[in-house]
Amino acid sequence: MYLGVDYYPEHWPKEMMDEDILGIKKMHSNIVRIGEFAWHLMEPKEGNYDFSFFDEAIEKLKNQDINVMFGTPTATFPAWLAKKYPTILSEDEDGTVRSFGGRRQYCYNSSVYREFSARITENLVKHYENEQAIIAWQIDNEIGHEGSDMCYCKTCHEEFHLFLENKYENIDTLNREYGTIFWGQTYNHFNEVPMPTKTITTHNPSLKLDWARFRSFSLNRFTKEQTDIVRKYKGEHQFVTTNIAGGFFSKWFDHEETVKDMDFVSYDNYPVWGGLTEPIPPAEIAMTHDFNRGLLNKNYWIVEELMGAQGHDIIGYLPRPNQAKMWSYQAFAHGCTDMLYFRWRGMTKGAEQYCYGIVGHDNNYGRRYKEVQNVFSDIRNYEEVLKSEIKSDIAVLYDYENIWSWNFQQQSSGFDFKNELMRLYTPFYKLNTHIDVVPVSRDFSDYKVLLVPALQIIDEALAERFRLFAENGGTVIFTFRTGIKDHNNNIYLKQALPGFVKDITGVEIHEIEALSAEQIVPVVGSGQFEGVRSTCSVWRDIITPVTAETLFTYEDPFYSEAALTKNSYGKGTVYYVGGGIEEDVLTEIAKTIVENQQVDHIRSEDGLEVYNRVIDKKVYYFLMNHTAETKSFDSTTLQPYESKIVCRN
Ligand code: GAL
Repeated sequence: MYLGVDYYPEHWPKEMMDEDILGIKKMHSNIVRIGEFAWHLMEPKEGNYDFSFFDEAIEKLKNQDINVMFGTPTATFPAWLAKKYPTILSEDEDGTVRSFGGRRQYCYNSSVYREFSARITENLVKHYENEQAIIAWQIDNEIGHEGSDMCYCKTCHEEFHLFLENKYENIDTLNREYGTIFWGQTYNHFNEVPMPTKTITTHNPSLKLDWARFRSFSLNRFTKEQTDIVRKYKGEHQFVTTNIAGGFFSKWFDHEETVKDMDFVSYDNYPVWGGLTEPIPPAEIAMTHDFNRGLLNKNYWIVEELMGAQGHDIIGYLPRPNQAKMWSYQAFAHGCTDMLYFRWRGMTKGAEQYCYGIVGHDNNYGRRYKEVQNVFSDIRNYEEVLKSEIKSDIAVLYDYENIWSWNFQQQSSGFDFKNELMRLYTPFYKLNTHIDVVPVSRDFSDYKVLLVPALQIIDEALAERFRLFAENGGTVIFTFRTGIKDHNNNIYLKQALPGFVKDITGVEIHEIEALSAEQIVPVVGSGQFEGVRSTCSVWRDIITPVTAETLFTYEDPFYSEAALTKNSYGKGTVYYVGGGIEEDVLTEIAKTIVENQQVDHIRSEDGLEVYNRVIDKKVYYFLMNHTAETKSFDSTTLQPYESKIVCRN
């Protein structure tokens, strides 16, 4: 089991290396991550490769039995490269060239950048191929993060034309699929197709979706080139990974594709960040772990775990004593097997002087140091538990093309894909169930429950998979706007909504209304929910039940139709949630579902997360108190923000 820190030995006077490595060792670490921003140090001038600084650091680390994860340095290129080849710099939508000075301001399609990146990575990996201390390579750093997945430069435009030509072969096909007859946008040649940059009103929806696919293709091609080089030259004992940043659903690349050639996924877990006055909700942090575990369907690493306050120009919330430790336990519960904290020391210079490390600027080995030391010494006792496989009965399904479609055409000012996903995830999270967050392309036939938020793009083949799932006894919850679109981002012609899943949902939708996040329509229950009152925001589908039973209707003098329905299909049950219905209603539905489907769940006090892991018939309960109050679970008491693992036979 690897536990350690992100260490930047190049940031400090060389004389401090011994002292730092000793401090890292005494914290019970056995790994550091190094190198991911040090391209200039390794290639100070074009073609002059020099790894001597890291050779020395690695020797010192080895003397203390500390292993190394080495980051390929392509996230920060040297100034000489940008000066000599300015075309490597990416461009904003309005044509502003991103200047040298930040990070990741390169264009994934620049052949010059791809060539120089290939060379530095090849030289670096070859140099350390036989280095036993290096046990893993990290590709780039948080690829595509901070807006770096978008670029509108000339090279991108030309590459986009090639991408389209490859896809459609014939411009008439593109015209037909896009429906360019609308507003007279018919193209004679691929090279006439614009990028969706600023214009009057808005661009064609099919064009926008193809642009998103092209962005994803560009980033993933770069990642694959880098991964292939590392794989070709690395030692057999070395793994390959990349660190996934948060905010997955607002990114323009398909993450599953990004990691598909990796040995394991690494995630950077930041429950708070600059400007946030409180952490993101516990359910959302949990979901990010389930998402990362879902990428390769196996347990994963965390290579940046927060311990201190963080921020670039604005700093955020300071984790309360033991709170960051509790977030680490939450990560371990959800499938993290190995963990590195960001970062060893707070840097006094440079853009991240406000990213507080384990050791303070003042050299204080205080609360943060002790908390990490504590995590490391405790968690080693549970190595086998952490490595055990997590089985889930529930899956939340997402699809990047669908998310991109939403991100381009929000339809309601209150819509946010992540919020809609959380609307379904949270009630089941609060029942302490195991949930996988996985792409819709994954085989989902073995789950008992599928949560399907706002999945607009559904074709016949996917509908058939849902049909089989329900027929065989599964429960599905669909939400509003399900099945309205095809893969070109176009609305189905002559199809009553929700399109291909109309029969299994047992409803039809002929009228819709976009609400805002604040705009509220009351809803009232019937049948099992007789007299229950709640509200709906963001959106409402005005539902006409065909075979479905109505559970809630809108309280509205004009459109008092169904808001939430339940249909029996085969041996299964299919719910349709017509709008942004409040958590109280969905919680009741979740309770019914876990009982009926016999999904393993655990009742706990509000704010106390319980996640069980089973190994050799022993049950390990990871208990995480996310609140500032004392909580208890059976006979175990947890102080504010405390976390514990208790074992029952
Ligand atoms: C991460 C990033 C690190 C550092 C850190 C600051 O997103 O990978 O390099 O910037 O945030 O908290």
